[in-house]
Amino acid sequence: MLEIRDLHVAYGEIPALKGISLSVATGEIVALLGNNGAGKTTTLKTLSGLLAPRSGEILLEGESVRGMPPHLIVRKGLAHVPEGRRVFNRLTVRENLEMGAYTRSDAAVSADLDRVLSLFPRLGERRAQVAGTLSGGEQQMLAIGRALMGSPRLLLLDEPSMGLAPVLVEQIFETVGSINRQGTTILLVGQNAALALDIAQRAYVLETGAVVLSGSAADLARNQDVRRAYLGEM
Ligand SMILES: Nc1ncnc2c1ncn2[C@@H]1O[C@H](COP(=O)(O)OP(=O)(O)O)[C@@H](O)[C@H]1O
Ligand SMILES: [Mg+2]
Repeated sequence: MLEIRDLHVAYGEIPALKGISLSVATGEIVALLGNNGAGKTTTLKTLSGLLAPRSGEILLEGESVRGMPPHLIVRKGLAHVPEGRRVFNRLTVRENLEMGAYTRSDAAVSADLDRVLSLFPRLGERRAQVAGTLSGGEQQMLAIGRALMGSPRLLLLDEPSMGLAPVLVEQIFETVGSINRQGTTILLVGQNAALALDIAQRAYVLETGAVVLSGSAADLARNQDVRRAYLGEM
């Protein structure tokens, strides 16, 4: 579904990604782990066309999307839920969700709205409420729901659990699992490595712009270095 080969990205003269390669197969959840500043957000922004790579290749279903503008990449089936859940504060929940389908003209939009509201019943209860008055967890649900309204085949999630209460974090991860079981492939940037490794099949660990470890989620969850660095063990 997605293949990244030797991707280099820099902010001005400062390199942020120093030749990363990774792949995501259709149907997978792949976790991208790493400490603050490792390059996770930069990776997602480059995939969705918000940043231009210096070199390297990005293939989406075998086709190069490197250098393509974000709105065309969205049409290729990729949706990006950015860090910090940006929703349209003054629009209602329903209007926010409809914005997620603005590039589409097909008849399945209302079925997708039903699907999103069944994944996130809270959003259904609050569909007439303006988004700015939702809780942080509800805004995260709305940001994910809005991305799903574009009917993506590949969903990029940047730290969906950031700043949320533990009970909401678990709920979000459970829902991410359901979205995947319904057929959406997912690249998940996780601050909560334990939960990310729980729902992912495979994972990559980034350190200062390079992939330092990769493997099955089960193997990485047992890896001593990963446990020390990302699971808070001594
Ligand atoms: N807009 C920017 N301008 C300059 N440097 C940036 C910018 N965004 C991120 N960086 C730098 O790029 C590196 C990777 O950042 P980022 O991708 O945000 O990491 P992560 O999401 O893993 O925390 C860091 O060293 C960060 O300071
Ligand atoms: Mg980040």
